[in-house]
Amino acid sequence: MTNFETVDFYTDPALVENPYPYFEYLRSKGPIAQLPRENVLAVTGYAEALAIINDAKTFSSANAATGPNPDLPFEPEGDDITEQLEAHRDELIATGLVVCKDGKEHANHRSLMMGLFSPTRLKANEEYMWDLTDKLINDFADKGHCDLIAEYATPFATLVIADLLGIPENDRIAFCEKLGPPPGTVGEEVSYEDSQVLGMSFLFEYFGEYLAERRDSPKDDILSKFAHDKFPDGSTPEVFDLVWISAFLFGAGQDTTARLLGASLRVLCENPELQTQIRNDRSLIPAFIEEVVRYEGPVKCAHRLAVKTTTVAGVEIKAGTHVALLYGACNRDPREFEAPTELRLDRPNARKHLGFGRGVHTCAGMPLAKAEVTASLNRILDRMMDIKLSEEHHGKPGEQRFTYEGIYTLRALKNLYIEFTPVR
Ligand code: HEM
Repeated sequence: MTNFETVDFYTDPALVENPYPYFEYLRSKGPIAQLPRENVLAVTGYAEALAIINDAKTFSSANAATGPNPDLPFEPEGDDITEQLEAHRDELIATGLVVCKDGKEHANHRSLMMGLFSPTRLKANEEYMWDLTDKLINDFADKGHCDLIAEYATPFATLVIADLLGIPENDRIAFCEKLGPPPGTVGEEVSYEDSQVLGMSFLFEYFGEYLAERRDSPKDDILSKFAHDKFPDGSTPEVFDLVWISAFLFGAGQDTTARLLGASLRVLCENPELQTQIRNDRSLIPAFIEEVVRYEGPVKCAHRLAVKTTTVAGVEIKAGTHVALLYGACNRDPREFEAPTELRLDRPNARKHLGFGRGVHTCAGMPLAKAEVTASLNRILDRMMDIKLSEEHHGKPGEQRFTYEGIYTLRALKNLYIEFTPVR
């Protein structure tokens, strides 16, 4: 039996399969609770998380992706560490990620990145994703079963971003091989962390060469345009800045979308009536997606670093404290969402969830992720009847088992074995 008082959220495998009882334990201590690590507070309250996200001057995103791992490379001093943070920012491990930037630099990088999501580009990409759903389903449909994560969701999400960025067709196979399928499903066993590091180094090498080459000799492609884009203030980004942006789009958009697809299908398999309802009325898909993100969203938490001593909901937060925004818990806050553990398609405030973050760091890929899941669910429901969980892999109804990746940031099903009757 796990001792919630002393358990380490960041390392204990006992919290991976089902973190929700622990989130409720933390909530019972108040909307902002102390974790066993002295300089970390956890937020389970919806209103409190929103107040923190919306106060970017007091709460920096410098630690957004990693939280207290590793801890700050300096000893915080006093009630305002803004200058100290700036002096050491380059020593933080994820400093180049747009999600970890603050203020003007963040605005510059975000604006450059959003150029990749132009309406024309998104439209062409959406056409590509509808074709892709069928191509991927064709590979396993006749079998009547698959691992949805390895055989569909991961290659789908990888190829969609590759297309968005204009990666040449010939290189896309390499992207799928290097960035998936997820470890522990097929092939050799590689730890999740190792696979992420390998994936990131591949992306850095690829985009490093690719963008540098296009700066010197532009071609008629999307990344050549990106290689020559300027920051909003007219200054020219380093190739390195562009590499961080391109690589991060895979990091941020591939696993998250793939695992949202996994969570959605798990819910549909566990609720056959809901599956029939949505199969018969596809206009329910957008509400369904919002509810799955709220109730079982892929991002369990993001972090902020208090740069000034402040008080939120009566709790003093000292400068230098890591604040874990437990989005997975905030989205089940009963003060905000009635009967939060029920999936309700008619929930009036479902879209208020924090599953895509909020404020200046709101998920840049949210419309893309929703379009991907909408296209996939539509085509999966068109082409597969009676979708069920495989008893062989997940156990009998009532005794089902699921394995999740052992990471604290993501709620990520390792695999989802389904069976279905193919529609011919
Ligand atoms: C279901 C899928 C997704 C979920 C649940 C998700 C969730 C999130 C969340 C919670 C944040 C905010 C983190 C914070 O508060 O610090 C975020 C930021 C971000 N996401 Fe997503 N995301 C998804 C898909 C995508 C996709 C497909 C892309 C792009 C291809 C993407 C790109 C980004 C970027 C670039 C940021 C950082 C924005 C900034 O800092 O200004 N995401 N995402």
